[in-house]
Amino acid sequence: MRSEYTAIAHPNIAFIKYWGNRDDALRLPLNGSISMNLSGLESRTTVQFDEALEHDTFELNGEFQSSASLQRVSQFLDYVRRLVGSTSYARVSSTNNFPTGAGIASSASAFAALALAASKAAGLDLDQKDLSRLARLGSGSACRSVPDGFVEWLPGKDDASSYAVSIAPKDHWGLVDAVAVVSQEHKPIGSTSGHKLAHTSPLNAQRVLDAPERLKNCRDALLERDFAGFADVVELDSNYMHAVMRTSNPPLVYWEPATEVLLWQVWQWRKQGHAVCATVDAGPNVHVLALANERDWLQKALLELPGVKNVLIGEPADGARLVD
Ligand code: PMV
Repeated sequence: MRSEYTAIAHPNIAFIKYWGNRDDALRLPLNGSISMNLSGLESRTTVQFDEALEHDTFELNGEFQSSASLQRVSQFLDYVRRLVGSTSYARVSSTNNFPTGAGIASSASAFAALALAASKAAGLDLDQKDLSRLARLGSGSACRSVPDGFVEWLPGKDDASSYAVSIAPKDHWGLVDAVAVVSQEHKPIGSTSGHKLAHTSPLNAQRVLDAPERLKNCRDALLERDFAGFADVVELDSNYMHAVMRTSNPPLVYWEPATEVLLWQVWQWRKQGHAVCATVDAGPNVHVLALANERDWLQKALLELPGVKNVLIGEPADGARLVD
């Protein structure tokens, strides 16, 4: 048996967001979510279990990690060890080709790639559903980076029924995600802590209650390639999540002034007839979703706006896969 495996996974951008858990330990979400994997951006992770190691090691972008991030990886490897009844520690080495912790869901691609590389290195051959469930234990949104293309996370009722499935292949619709990066700093409150605050917002119960309607509208718009319907529900859902964040106790405000300027500008462009809309995750960067024919002028126009440091382009991508 080969003991070292390398896997690649892409981050994903949520059109309908996951925010808040019904079970924090198992990362069972309060509501379903829909996303698209993003090509161009990727995590590449190699795992090797080795009986001679005295503890797990984790190298990220060439630097050995200690404390919190090593602990999170180690806890995740415990799930894999438990599945195979092993006590071997592992060497994990990972690279991201995009900024970590700045609202570009690095944890999604990281845990999807880690789930695949670690499960294979431990001798497991999980099917897509079980791989998605495993990735979910590392970071909820990671379960959506396992299947291909456009993906829906079925919230489920327990560990066995909460996983993501592909609802359309990557070539179904020529969407691009132009990520206007306004900050590359690590966000002050990570999403694992943020999810725990969702319950403290008086708006959250309503957001969860009518999530099935937004999921249906998004799924329908996506399958029919209806950009106008898609833009309405994507912006509503993102604003709803940020309203919940801002009305939590303590309040969570991820936006920066440049975020507001970008959102305003995207609305103006849409009013002028461009097929563009915006969504924001747990960070200040703005994901501008657009039809592929808008890509070139959009990238240039975003770079000219105040506070925009960089524009990353993602297109619909495959799910997690092994590298030879
Ligand atoms: O998977 P987590 O715990 O990093 O949560 C992701 C939360 C959002 O990015 C804000 C929304 C989402 O559905 O991706």
